[in-house]
Amino acid sequence: MSTTQSYSSQELIQMEDKYGAHNYHPLPVVLSKGEGVYVWDVEGKQYFDFLSAYSAVNQGHCHPAILKAMNDQAAKLTLTSRAFYNDMLGKYEHYITDMMKYDKVLPINTGVEAVETALKLARKWAYMKKGVASDQAKIIFATGNFHGRTLAVISGSTDPDSKSGFGPYMPGYEVVDYNNLDQLEAALKDPNAAAFIVEPIQGEAGVFVPDENYLVDAKKLCEKYNALFIADEVQTGIARTGKLLATCGNCTCSDGCERNPEVRPDILVLGKAISGGVFPVSAVLADDDIMLCIKPGEHGSTFGGNPIACAVAIAALEVVKNESLAQNANKLGVIFRERIQTLVDKSDLVTLVRGKGLLNAIVINDSETSKTAWNICVKLRDNGLLAKPTHGNIIRFAPPLVMTEDELHQCCDIIEKTILEFEV
Ligand SMILES: Cc1ncc(COP(=O)(O)O)c(C=O)c1O
Repeated sequence: MSTTQSYSSQELIQMEDKYGAHNYHPLPVVLSKGEGVYVWDVEGKQYFDFLSAYSAVNQGHCHPAILKAMNDQAAKLTLTSRAFYNDMLGKYEHYITDMMKYDKVLPINTGVEAVETALKLARKWAYMKKGVASDQAKIIFATGNFHGRTLAVISGSTDPDSKSGFGPYMPGYEVVDYNNLDQLEAALKDPNAAAFIVEPIQGEAGVFVPDENYLVDAKKLCEKYNALFIADEVQTGIARTGKLLATCGNCTCSDGCERNPEVRPDILVLGKAISGGVFPVSAVLADDDIMLCIKPGEHGSTFGGNPIACAVAIAALEVVKNESLAQNANKLGVIFRERIQTLVDKSDLVTLVRGKGLLNAIVINDSETSKTAWNICVKLRDNGLLAKPTHGNIIRFAPPLVMTEDELHQCCDIIEKTILEFEV
């Protein structure tokens, strides 16, 4: 085997199948290049990326400013661990806390690590500040959640694919229905309740947007019962839903954050697009009263806060501001849902379109176990657009936020043509 030899898509798929664990079921397309909203397969065919690596590549593939920051930093210093200070971490911490308006950030690598960090922080806070008896803290999850893949996190999942066969599970959890405030209140009445963790929009579950008052009222309930409100914005954050964060208010961010959150999470969890998808970077943000509950030696990661991650994250967040990605996502999202709604109106195959900004999904008129959504995605691929079903009969649409209106219309044309062709 030579790593410089070129292989066909088929050969590369076979190689993954033979030598890699079978923990994913990718659409059969092998990508070797990306730029902006486009990716190319090894045979040179061009596609619109309509998934953005699950909303990690919001800034578009291989954004030159982010790559430059990464390459410049890689040539100077890559990793020190947190045994020593480095000259990038403080700058990044200052930058992101200023942008997100929190006292402190805890830098880590992947989304699920950031969620784990938030859960640990909430437990620690419950013991130190709320006075919960040792080992009794309870964390409340919502049905249909997706917070990642570790044991602690899947213990709060209700998805059998993520959870079954991996027990025993983490104690100290309770699950309430997403979008159900009565159930949340009942769970919060428990004096051991430390926190409620929630996605402002459930991406993996199929882009479920809760009722308009849900997040605001859930936060009020958490305040009433002295429990923390944790927002997992790993997928919804960084301009994806048409605002810097899905928990932001109806502000424009035209001159930086206007400090007008619709809901201000006690703990904010970010990942994915905080690096523009070029490097694993995630973050947990909170104010001192909460964050300082964790003391030296109690939590961390060798790679968390490494100089490359810091340089990349600053560059990636600058792109979000400089290129007005939240505003673009907001504008294009409206156009996208209008166009797809006309398709829903004339097609029996698609029953609805839903979402916010450029995080959207369509529901296919077939059972959750059917292959229809998968087969539509294969046809979309043939027609030059890459998307993936989530939960059987739902297809998520999440293109890079650097897309132009003209490109969006081209994509809608492809989706419309594919769906209408599929019916005949
Ligand atoms: C809301 C949410 N939280 C956490 C995660 C986990 O992130 P990672 O895959 O980087 O661990 C994801 C991944 O899709 C996510 O959508």
